[in-house]
Amino acid sequence: MAAKRDLLRFITCGSVDDGKSTLIGRLLHDCGLIFEDTYSNLRTDSQRHGTSGDALDFALLLDGLEAERQQGITIDVAYRFFATPQRSFIVADTPGHEQYTRNMATGASTASLAIILVDATKGLLPQSRRHSIICSLLGIRHIVLAINKMDLVGFDAARFGAIVAEYRHFAEALGFQDITAIPISARRGDNIASLSNNTPWYRGPYLLAHSEAVDVAADQADKPFRFPVQWVNRPNASFRGFAGIVASGRIAAGDAIMLAVTGAQSRVARIVTAAGDLAEAVAGQAVTLTLADEIDIARGDMLVAPSARPETADQFAADMLWMGQEALLPGRDYLLRIGHAWTTARVTSLRHRLDVTTREHKAARQLEMNDIGLCHLASLQPLSFDPYAENRATGAFILVDRFTHETVAAGMIRHGLRRATNIHRAAFSIDKTARSERYGQRPVLLWFTGLSGSGKSTIANLVEQALFAAGRPCYSLDGDNLRHGLCRDLGFTAADRVENIRRAGEVAKLFLDAGLIVLASFISPFRAERQMLRELIGAEDFLEIHVDASLETCMARDPKGLYAKAKAGLIPNFTGISSPYEAPENPNIHLKTGDFTAEACAEQVLQALRVKGIAC
Ligand code: ADX
Repeated sequence: MAAKRDLLRFITCGSVDDGKSTLIGRLLHDCGLIFEDTYSNLRTDSQRHGTSGDALDFALLLDGLEAERQQGITIDVAYRFFATPQRSFIVADTPGHEQYTRNMATGASTASLAIILVDATKGLLPQSRRHSIICSLLGIRHIVLAINKMDLVGFDAARFGAIVAEYRHFAEALGFQDITAIPISARRGDNIASLSNNTPWYRGPYLLAHSEAVDVAADQADKPFRFPVQWVNRPNASFRGFAGIVASGRIAAGDAIMLAVTGAQSRVARIVTAAGDLAEAVAGQAVTLTLADEIDIARGDMLVAPSARPETADQFAADMLWMGQEALLPGRDYLLRIGHAWTTARVTSLRHRLDVTTREHKAARQLEMNDIGLCHLASLQPLSFDPYAENRATGAFILVDRFTHETVAAGMIRHGLRRATNIHRAAFSIDKTARSERYGQRPVLLWFTGLSGSGKSTIANLVEQALFAAGRPCYSLDGDNLRHGLCRDLGFTAADRVENIRRAGEVAKLFLDAGLIVLASFISPFRAERQMLRELIGAEDFLEIHVDASLETCMARDPKGLYAKAKAGLIPNFTGISSPYEAPENPNIHLKTGDFTAEACAEQVLQALRVKGIAC
């Protein structure tokens, strides 16, 4: 019976005191889902921690964590399952605090309906708007506007009407399919599991009846067929199957399929499951597909309906919710996961930040935790996707920090950007190999990183003189120098430094292509960008040289008088003083400039080059 009932996933959102947890506790209670032992615990807990006087505090049922009880707020997503004879429900109870936007988004990403709780005594709050905007962005199309605590405003119809009118006006642009406003009292149970006698003026359904009836079914099954391959099942030479969950649409044995990225086509031979072969599978089902032809398919690929191909692009526009502790830095490489595919990607431009209370677009250079913004991204490999508004399963991705492995963003793709697809590479006959043969040298990038005043430029200068004297074509790129021209528009915020290093890396790459040995002196304070350089150039040709002097030594030297100014508060974001320096953990060459002369350090670099057979 239970398996046959359809499932509604919904999310409750509202501000801290709007009564979300109380509402869910009430729903569970009124569905007869609170057992006697839970009940007696609740009774004891209500007396100890509750805020309801002698009455039962339903919120305590949900706020399971001791820390939450002490603080009186909800700090994580709690999922509850319950069922009525008509329908099964999974509810995500998410926190209302601004700093927990990311938790709310987690709950909203799988929900089809949102209950936006509003405290009748307070009216719409910025959070009510913020949560609605996030729900809209995450593709929720069905809204219940639950005006709670109606008992505290004497079940006043006018008060209810005013809040509803204000909300409908605000939500006009959010693209919701339906908004059902219900006057309730979660604590007293009005209009929750039955219509209340206290609101004779209210003509709509009570909350549970509406939740049982609202039609959210089947839309995922009606979309084009999408099957992200989770793994390739190859137990022996005679069987090769592609396992995964049907993300949308349906598939039958004999149907034509296509590999999204390459366009290679075949037909479904069998739909295999543990319970035997199926004639057909629909969205949500876990199956293994075997194909009529041998085509090269790997984990992360997507099989699709040839008649409705998804977009494939390596540049795309997406709304992103930033969840990382550290701000999003445009230009930095992150790991991107879409379906079961992983690649690296970077934000090429941040178009705007969304003011989640007013929906205004604000200019921004970075996104902080819980910010939402529209970004353009570029990925290393082309991705296949659908616009999130059309298919939530194939239009969503996450970004992961490459060092901490923390999930730093949830992304919702709007559309591919075709601009770059019309730009091709011009092929020239004289290439890097031809040039390096002519010059009799292997082009390498010597990347000097270290604090200001550590001696980067001084040592690079000495090394370059020696290389030049030995007849080696070489060139120096220097932070201070580039900042007079190519990087004149950049300052010293983290975002600007990321961009500074990206540009320096691209220029260095061109010079390497020209056959030169390149010496680059940049503070380059972040590990992530130095790793990016290593990948851009290739580890073989990238030598990270840590020009290492203690902050005290650099401050004592203070060749440009900048530390004195920085300490006096005259230079913001100064490396070592008010901006971090992440020392290399494993540099190719480590120069201790506090202990050795610049000449000795330069000789150490030249010696390392000789050992590697790079320069004599
Ligand atoms: S990086 O961090 O983006 O790699 P870069 O090497 O280009 O920096 O530039 C550093 C030089 O800019 C320093 O040597 C110093 O002369 C100058 N400078 C001016 N302001 C700052 C600052 N806030 N932090 C660091 N260096 C600064």
